[in-house]
Amino acid sequence: MSVKLEGNILVTGSNRGIGLELVKQLAEKTREEAHIYACCRDPEGTRAEALRKLTAQYPGKITMIKLDMLDEDSILTTVQAVSKQVGAVGLNLLINNAAINTPASPAPLSATGKKDMMEVYETNVVGPFLLAKMCLPLLQKAAERHSPEKDMGDKMSCRRSAIINISTLISSIEKCPETFPCGTDVSLQNQQGSVEHADSLSS
Ligand SMILES: NC(=O)c1ccc[n+]([C@@H]2O[C@H](COP(=O)([O-])OP(=O)(O)OC[C@H]3O[C@@H](n4cnc5c(N)ncnc54)[C@H](OP(=O)(O)O)[C@@H]3O)[C@@H](O)[C@H]2O)c1
Repeated sequence: MSVKLEGNILVTGSNRGIGLELVKQLAEKTREEAHIYACCRDPEGTRAEALRKLTAQYPGKITMIKLDMLDEDSILTTVQAVSKQVGAVGLNLLINNAAINTPASPAPLSATGKKDMMEVYETNVVGPFLLAKMCLPLLQKAAERHSPEKDMGDKMSCRRSAIINISTLISSIEKCPETFPCGTDVSLQNQQGSVEHADSLSS
């Protein structure tokens, strides 16, 4: 499926792993007008060195923004900063990529406790939910700029606006009976994803 990527795009957990690669490919493949808000916990720290290098390679195309998905104030501050920069154009695409998997799977049920489960739930479920909720007015702004008729014929597009929640096969209840704690959390994230998708489609 081909996906048109343009406009303002926010990626969480973009200092390493899949998030860093997403920012790299978005910077390479989108047109000049596209702008990527690359979020990470510590933009100044050593863990963000690769992202800083990438940002320097694409002057004016990537903005690094501090974001801790565990901290509601941090999420609000991020959204306010993005809102200020995107203005009336709004946000076209939110990619909820940041996530944790503790204890690392496959882990036996006996190795998992409340602290790990709550941290996974807050990072992987509550954080993306709050971010999507706070970004919704910005996504609606972007969607309102383009009439639905214009998108007729596109299989999938963020020309209006969209939320992508990166998930994992571990979220499949059918495929992971032995990773119950993690599977449960991520499937909750999947269910929440459907709600967000419905929201963005209705915007
Ligand atoms: N790797 C795979 O094989 C695989 C397979 C299927 C799905 N996925 C999914 O793909 C996504 C990325 O996976 P990955 O392998 O790239 O993971 P990763 O290398 O462990 O990177 C996770 C990213 O999330 C960030 N993060 C964690 N907690 C955070 C928080 N509280 N606030 C903000 N950022 C936070 C990390 O930042 P720090 O550097 O600050 O920790 C890092 O940038 C996840 O949603 C995962 O479920 C991965």
